[in-house]
Amino acid sequence: MITVVAVGCGDRTTTYLEVGVHVLKKMKVVAAIDPNPERLRYMQEHFDVPAEACFRDMYEVLSQGRIADCVIDGTMDQYHLETALPFLEQGYDMLLEKPLVNNEKDLFLLRDTAAKSGSTLTVCHVLRYTPFYHKIKELILAGAVGEIMNIETSERVGAFHSSVSYIRGKWNREAECGSSLLLAKCCHDIDLLCWLNNTTVPVSVTSQGGRNYFIPEKAPAGAGTRCLVDCPAEVRATCFYDAQNMYIDHCMLPQYPWQCTGKNPEDVTMEERIASLKTYNPHGLCIYKAGGDLVDHQNVAVTFANGSTALHTMTLGAMRPGRNIWIQGTRGEIEGFFEDGIIKYRTYDPSRTWFTEETCDVNAEIAQNGNHLGGDAGLVRDFCARMEGAAPSISTTDISDSINGHLLCYAADKALREHSIVPLHLEKQ
Ligand SMILES: NC(=O)c1ccc[n+]([C@@H]2O[C@H](COP(=O)([O-])OP(=O)(O)OC[C@H]3O[C@@H](n4cnc5c(N)ncnc54)[C@H](O)[C@@H]3O)[C@@H](O)[C@H]2O)c1
Repeated sequence: MITVVAVGCGDRTTTYLEVGVHVLKKMKVVAAIDPNPERLRYMQEHFDVPAEACFRDMYEVLSQGRIADCVIDGTMDQYHLETALPFLEQGYDMLLEKPLVNNEKDLFLLRDTAAKSGSTLTVCHVLRYTPFYHKIKELILAGAVGEIMNIETSERVGAFHSSVSYIRGKWNREAECGSSLLLAKCCHDIDLLCWLNNTTVPVSVTSQGGRNYFIPEKAPAGAGTRCLVDCPAEVRATCFYDAQNMYIDHCMLPQYPWQCTGKNPEDVTMEERIASLKTYNPHGLCIYKAGGDLVDHQNVAVTFANGSTALHTMTLGAMRPGRNIWIQGTRGEIEGFFEDGIIKYRTYDPSRTWFTEETCDVNAEIAQNGNHLGGDAGLVRDFCARMEGAAPSISTTDISDSINGHLLCYAADKALREHSIVPLHLEKQ
């Protein structure tokens, strides 16, 4: 059994433990830390953690010295550094949520601390472990596209997810959550650009975007400030984002809108849900007046040292959510929409003066692997294998191989703020 200290027992940590403990049956939680007693109760009920192994303060565990093989740190973005560092200093191997931290100094501090104590620090860049992106990486490594000339990706964050996470949700203010939208949502995609094109490194980046749509001026005429309180029925009837419709009548991601009650989602009654939306719950606010400060669309244009380029586009409020990718190389191209689970590989046939196309369907693999289109299970499986002594796989997101994506995000946000082209001086990973 791989013994685990769970630091921050919220949605992500418990998702990984579900795989490690219940599906793979390779992990055992020996201590759980969370300031919220409801989350500790959840750990006792779902992962058999004894009450005496549940702590509200991490120093109660740290004071015992190293008591487990590894830490899973799934605290929110702004707590990663303070919660991860002391455990790394004690030599724990660690699975740490993305985005690791929001600045270069802290990023290098994490990397160097892990290196000094000989800890492996694995970043939860789950996309690398999905059958879809794993297959694309295999095709590139097999030389299918030749030399990469350009990569184009997009992340279209659907209306529901945009609302519940980035406009009304806990990632809606950079100063509070510690992350820009690019870092919070698309550090995965920027990591993919670096990983897929890792025979070279990014040398410059520029970025454009802004917050132009989820602003008070774009609210429908006559809209109120809280949907269930002062917004007229005729306005709500045609609004995509009516809180009653989104969170009471239908609710896709129940872990988010009721978190402010302090209870686990399944324990929040309908009366409490409605009362919260009418009063203190930020998810009850008019989406256009919710007061967040993140961009609602942004693109990032990257130049690599070998002259290849990449373009990533991110939008909130998309009708059909999803990610797409198109890679053009000198000998072939790869195209796909992640959520379709279909990868198209094309090459050129001079005898027909036209392309030939092969299709690779990874849906069966996805179906076996659940959340995040197979990414969560793939990450935990890979992490367990490494804990058992396996060599890194082609997906492994060791910090030493995942740092450039974070640095590229910081530089892209700087370029956006300063309307500039930002140079980078990165090393090959
Ligand atoms: N890999 C992915 O695809 C993915 C997806 C979603 C979120 N995330 C990231 O995962 C992280 C966690 O997100 P979440 O939605 O699970 O958050 P969450 O709010 O559900 O869980 C965080 C938990 O940490 C606890 N906590 C706060 N301070 C703590 C401390 N000092 N010590 C111990 N516990 C503490 C909170 O009480 C909470 O229960 C974030 O960084 C987020 O950006 C990653």
